[in-house]
Amino acid sequence: MSSVEGSARHLYVHLPFCMHRCGYCDFVTVVGRADQHGVYVDALLAELARESASLADVVDTVFVGGGTPTLTEPDALRRVLAALPPATEVTVEANPETVTPELAALLREGGVNRISLGAQTFAPRLLDVLERVAGPDDVRRAVHTLRDASFDNISLDLIYGIPGQEPSDLDNDLAEALALAPEHLSLYELEAKPGTRFTHAWGDELTRQSEAMEGYFERIVETLTGAGYRWYETANFCLSSDRAADRDLRAHHNLGYWQGRDYLGVGIGAVSTLGEERRRNGASIGRYISALRDHEVGEEPPRKLEQLDSLTKAKERLMLGLRLDEALPLGGLEQAVDGGGLERMIAGGLAVVQGEPGADGGPFLSLTKRGRFLGGGVTAEILA
Ligand SMILES: C[S@@+](CC[C@H](N)C(=O)[O-])C[C@H]1O[C@@H](n2cnc3c(N)ncnc32)[C@H](O)[C@@H]1O
Ligand code: SF4
Repeated sequence: MSSVEGSARHLYVHLPFCMHRCGYCDFVTVVGRADQHGVYVDALLAELARESASLADVVDTVFVGGGTPTLTEPDALRRVLAALPPATEVTVEANPETVTPELAALLREGGVNRISLGAQTFAPRLLDVLERVAGPDDVRRAVHTLRDASFDNISLDLIYGIPGQEPSDLDNDLAEALALAPEHLSLYELEAKPGTRFTHAWGDELTRQSEAMEGYFERIVETLTGAGYRWYETANFCLSSDRAADRDLRAHHNLGYWQGRDYLGVGIGAVSTLGEERRRNGASIGRYISALRDHEVGEEPPRKLEQLDSLTKAKERLMLGLRLDEALPLGGLEQAVDGGGLERMIAGGLAVVQGEPGADGGPFLSLTKRGRFLGGGVTAEILA
């Protein structure tokens, strides 16, 4: 068996269909094409069968993301869920307007035990800016529908730095989100790609917002930690274990990425990291379907391959690991660390190193609270 085979304990499945393309979104999505849901899922399941040797005997997490997975035609979605390996955490991304009692029942029967719901904001005028289909009532209704179907692990996504947003809007979004008592919250800084229609339309306002980001971020962390959430990753919060009957409510799928574990991704645009190899599937649904259809396990879909050398892997591990609230074992990552930069960060009270080299992977590096607020800038200083 090669080092790649059987190594991935995390599986990502991409369902790309969306009702409408939100102006700010840069994910691999397909609008309309309702007639292609079934054939896309045929191709997806063929790819999963082809690649299943990359999965470990025990899979820890599955994440079905999009796009809007919950827009997928119900029979096709049911077939996807039935084909997934058993896993401790099975998450599906849902858009609020798609959540009905029937959908919630389908997800539960399909073994889904965690839902990530894209709320983005509760301010109607900011939802308009983002070109969202769902309104604030849809978000609230979706959460209640999921609770009625016994989902006890719900995450809400919010975006901040939206053109036209004021600090009071953010405070209101946080209060509205907290009122729904989600187990987990992701708070994303709005990223607007240069050259897109969205950036063109909101240029000056995006500049004003980017200057306010640091203040927003501190407000978010103070509010959510004050409400009993653990700030376990730069943009992610979960109910702390004492508020959650000792459950560890971190997003274990994403933790796999942040901790540098192998993962398999299937579907258009999906990325896999298997040992020293990174694969990126092409974004064209047409080419994906034609490569995989009409064969029991099909041909390999169009994809780009990249070999990851040990320095690249060590740098990624450092960059992602420092996003977490747990100390990062530096053993084996020495080549990725700029000793002078690290000393400066320690002297400036932004980073701490503890422990000695040893079998436990030590010494251990962590950022202080101030260091975590400055985040990427501090990591850049530490990186070789
Ligand atoms: C892959 S998207 C799909 C989720 C789902 N279709 C939805 O729109 O709610 C997952 C999350 O990424 C975040 N996101 C998408 N585009 C973003 C952007 N340009 N900047 C910041 N966050 C973004 C949103 O919070 C979204 O809920
Ligand atoms: S619904 Fe989600 S995935 Fe689809 S375009 Fe909007 S943000 Fe992107």
